[in-house]
Amino acid sequence: MRKTMHKKLIVGNLKMNPVSPAEFGRYLDMLEKETKGKNFEKTEIVICPPAIYFRQFSERKFKNIKLGAQDVYWEYQGAYTGEISAGMVKANGAEYSIVGHSERRKYFGENEEIINSKLKAILRSGLKAILCVGESGEERKSNQTAPVLKKQLEKSLAGIGIGKAEYITIVYEPIWAVGTDKTPSSDEVLEAKIVIKKILTVLYSKKAVEKMKILYGGSVKSFCAGQVCVDPAMDGALIGRESLAPYEFIKIVKIVEEK
Ligand code: PGA
Repeated sequence: MRKTMHKKLIVGNLKMNPVSPAEFGRYLDMLEKETKGKNFEKTEIVICPPAIYFRQFSERKFKNIKLGAQDVYWEYQGAYTGEISAGMVKANGAEYSIVGHSERRKYFGENEEIINSKLKAILRSGLKAILCVGESGEERKSNQTAPVLKKQLEKSLAGIGIGKAEYITIVYEPIWAVGTDKTPSSDEVLEAKIVIKKILTVLYSKKAVEKMKILYGGSVKSFCAGQVCVDPAMDGALIGRESLAPYEFIKIVKIVEEK
């Protein structure tokens, strides 16, 4: 497989953490300490905190860390109590939004149709999308990984033209690895990446797909970053728990960047 020419992308998904502005402030202090004056030339770092902390994040004026949302609603504005639009998060400093995370699918009933609407809204607003796909443990056991990825990608990307492809990053995030301590082998990640590339090539074109990043996500820690990100030549990682520990998070950045 051709070696990727992309800048790596490392995304920290803080989920519903930390619990207070004071705690988030301490988190930002630690993040600053780990990144200040450092030039991550080969890597783009994105932190996705709860949207209520966006302003607090932006006030720190990080030069080498971008802001992302964990989710958005697909409508532009209106009577949708509790929701936040893609335009709103963009206007508040975000450059990216995650979409289709397995926790959104599991706890909030998001299906591919919803994910497709959200993805379109993200791209319409000028944000870049980080689309998560991946199979459950049962599906892997019954050899359904490839058909599941195909269904998820085809339905989530329906109606999204080739011109938008470069603004979409795909995360291979096997559900059985998220929030657990299980990780796939390098070969399993590489196989999934090849499957994803093939599906995307049919949907778009080889040239368009070269501009798309494919990340790995699910229990990434510094000790396994080589196995799940570097060896299968992924374009980066989506990191949950370890992104709450800036020292560990930046350690992963360095491991992925140096290869
Ligand atoms: P984890 O989460 O790293 O804690 O497994 C990954 C994710 O949900 O994006």
